[in-house]
Amino acid sequence: MNVKKMYFYLYILIIASCTITPANQSNGVASGYRKGMVVSAQPEASKIGLATLQQGGNAIDAAVSTAFALAVCHPTAGNIGGGGFMVLRFADGKNDAIDFRETAPKNATRDMYLDKKGDFDMRLSTETHLASGIPGSVDGLLKVHAKYGKLPLNVLIQPAIDLARKGFPLTEKLASSLNHNKSAFLKRNKTKTAFTNATAWKTGDTLRQEELTQTLELIRDKGRAGFYEGATAEKIVAEMKRGNGIINREDLKNYSSKWRTPMIGKYKDYKVITMPPPSSGGIALLQMLRMIERFPLSKWGFDSPDSKHLMIEAERRAYADRAKYLGDADYFEVPVNDLLDSTYIDNRIKNFNQTKATPSGEIGFTIPIPHESTETTHFSIVDSAQNAVSCTTTINSAFGSKIVVTGAGFILNNEMDDFSAKPNAPNQFELIGNEANAIKAGKRMLSSMTPTILEKNGKLYMVVGSPGGAFIITAVFQTILNVIEFDMSMQNAVATKRFHHQWMPDEVKIETGVFNDNLMKQLEARGHKFKDEGKFARVDAILIHSNGILESGADPRGDDCGMGY
Ligand code: DON
Repeated sequence: MNVKKMYFYLYILIIASCTITPANQSNGVASGYRKGMVVSAQPEASKIGLATLQQGGNAIDAAVSTAFALAVCHPTAGNIGGGGFMVLRFADGKNDAIDFRETAPKNATRDMYLDKKGDFDMRLSTETHLASGIPGSVDGLLKVHAKYGKLPLNVLIQPAIDLARKGFPLTEKLASSLNHNKSAFLKRNKTKTAFTNATAWKTGDTLRQEELTQTLELIRDKGRAGFYEGATAEKIVAEMKRGNGIINREDLKNYSSKWRTPMIGKYKDYKVITMPPPSSGGIALLQMLRMIERFPLSKWGFDSPDSKHLMIEAERRAYADRAKYLGDADYFEVPVNDLLDSTYIDNRIKNFNQTKATPSGEIGFTIPIPHESTETTHFSIVDSAQNAVSCTTTINSAFGSKIVVTGAGFILNNEMDDFSAKPNAPNQFELIGNEANAIKAGKRMLSSMTPTILEKNGKLYMVVGSPGGAFIITAVFQTILNVIEFDMSMQNAVATKRFHHQWMPDEVKIETGVFNDNLMKQLEARGHKFKDEGKFARVDAILIHSNGILESGADPRGDDCGMGY
């Protein structure tokens, strides 16, 4: 037994002992629980999700209460003004997925973000009323609850209502990011918002949101109609008029989230259940896993230049396909089967050179293009029956468009920037796209969100996902490999620094300090260029050990917190 494996088993023993002695919930990391676990971006939300499980709710109930709580205590990304994806795996092994991604309003047009010269104006797609897609979160959460929930909806929304009305203490990070974004909030909103209520927020200050409270009460009492019709819809439309936005009553009334068949793939002994289009994440994740499967990654080891080089090259190839072929499959024929075909994957990695980086410009495209027929949050939940929910939800940038619906107290997304506004013009994540992801009324913009669930030998194994824009897919990819190939605990797998290649620009984006000097030199010698991005992505995950013990991975980059019982 090698030393790493020995430590791993020792770790499992320690975790096991935590079920006898009080379980460990310190520093936002939970381990040693068997009955249920919630890992989310904020302690207040994890606490509410956990309480739902403890009062007899299932993982779906806990997902609904956690998501509404995040809309209150994590205004950076939690939302009712945005959208998301949820992948579900039930105790009997069945699975499902719901797509509550925002859609382009009826009056959206292909060139709506181009200036007079025909150049892409990113300010329009990120900072204005025109930046918002029709919000999908409320419809999605209510629909998933109606199909699979156990507890009544009002019981699940009430904790979020109480949190909004009574307020909650700001963490250091949230206080600082509210202060950082204060001038944008002031500039983009006519009236004072809850987020600009203080001259300068301090850690521990209470954030109360009375207008949001009332909107949540309407949703509690009237369901879908409390948001997409009546007073809330009127407020959204009035807000649009104030800022020359285009979302109208009809858009809101007609919005509908969609059930999707999850994308299923295999990596070695593991079944990977993930999100299909309009997420690009599922396809790209499966492509990368299958490209690297044939190489002895664990033998090479975590710190070896060979492992890093191979993973970078797999990322480069998958992101090239993302840019070329992926969009909303309801509007563009995404060649899913071709992209995941074994011969195609074999050919994609065939020109991989173990000693030399492949220039991105040399990545060719063989599948014919079919004709047209920065802030997010993730949470993972497992309940006592081992139903599991992996959910990523977003308003795109931090605090979305930073436009708060007057009188309704929630922030609008700036998700329209995820469309490809002009072929090959990079968006805020430097992602480029093409026809597949062009703007069209009713269409869903391409996403990188990758909520994923893994099975091992038919049993629930891991629930994982992340925010981080373009960084999401590689963060999920690396977290999975950190556990499966590099024997890390769930927490270490999440905390470990990351690297990222997205084909274009042709550079490896890195978290500060991810590679030591020696590794950096060896990768440079193979032709890689680096760009330090500080830190990126925030993975929240749960590992289900074969003895039933649950172990959280709560990302230390944020306030993320795992709680179990
Ligand atoms: O759907 C997407 O891919 C983006 N809207 C996600 C944005 C994001 O993760 C920003 N968060 N840090």
